[in-house]
Amino acid sequence: MSVTIKTPEQQEKMRVAGRLAADVLDMIGGYVKPGISTDELDRICHEYITDVQDAIPAPLNYKGFPKSICTSVNHVVCHGIPGDKILKAGDSINIDITVIKDGFHGDTSRMFFAGKPNIQAKRLSEIAFESMWLGIEELGHGKRLGDIGAAVQKNVERNRFSVVREYCGHGIGQVFHEDPQVLHYGKRDTGLELREGMTLTIEPMVNAGKANVRLLPDGWTVVTKDHSLSAQWEHTCLITKNGFEVLTLGADSR
Ligand code: MF3
Ligand code: CO
Ligand code: CO
Repeated sequence: MSVTIKTPEQQEKMRVAGRLAADVLDMIGGYVKPGISTDELDRICHEYITDVQDAIPAPLNYKGFPKSICTSVNHVVCHGIPGDKILKAGDSINIDITVIKDGFHGDTSRMFFAGKPNIQAKRLSEIAFESMWLGIEELGHGKRLGDIGAAVQKNVERNRFSVVREYCGHGIGQVFHEDPQVLHYGKRDTGLELREGMTLTIEPMVNAGKANVRLLPDGWTVVTKDHSLSAQWEHTCLITKNGFEVLTLGADSR
């Protein structure tokens, strides 16, 4: 597969899909409370995406994924499958939403807390958020993928956390996961040169302990090997002549 450049018309469709994905996160945030199950969060998002937005939840049946959203709680790094797990006070959860509208994908995730956040979990989430933004701010015509990875990695490690290596950001468009792979670590002035019209995600997974991860036997759920907490934020971005446009900003501009 090669890197696709979106035409202005396609960019507009990416804006619409990105907006819808962000709207789902804005909608679901208020439901994240102690006592709710991840299945219930999935059901509410599924209904909103299909009935209100007239869009498609991209994860459902994607390579066999059984649900419409990913819910990754505490030490789950990514791709958590909604189920009968009930959130308890202090739990942190990443909710990852990808919608398809008019053939184009919008992909975004945020961290939420059930009740009062655990102080370490809150800090981890803040550093993951800040690191994602430092990566996004590197984007621009002529910049290179290594610039993004280096900016993210530097901030994570400066705070004595670690960057997950096995999963990364990606090009996105009519295909969920397009080229290029967007690593969240690396060296400046290396890697693919970015061009106006590319769309890609920045979605660092940051662990409180070691970077190592393990895939559970369900074939999807990724957890930290040392069971330390993990946090992730994700935006879909468009490369522009003068920099970037974030396509998945929420109502509070996160
Ligand atoms: N939304 C995830 C990402 O950011 C991918 C989820 S794939 C799924 O790339 F099948 F687990 F949903
Ligand atoms: Co993604
Ligand atoms: Co995602």
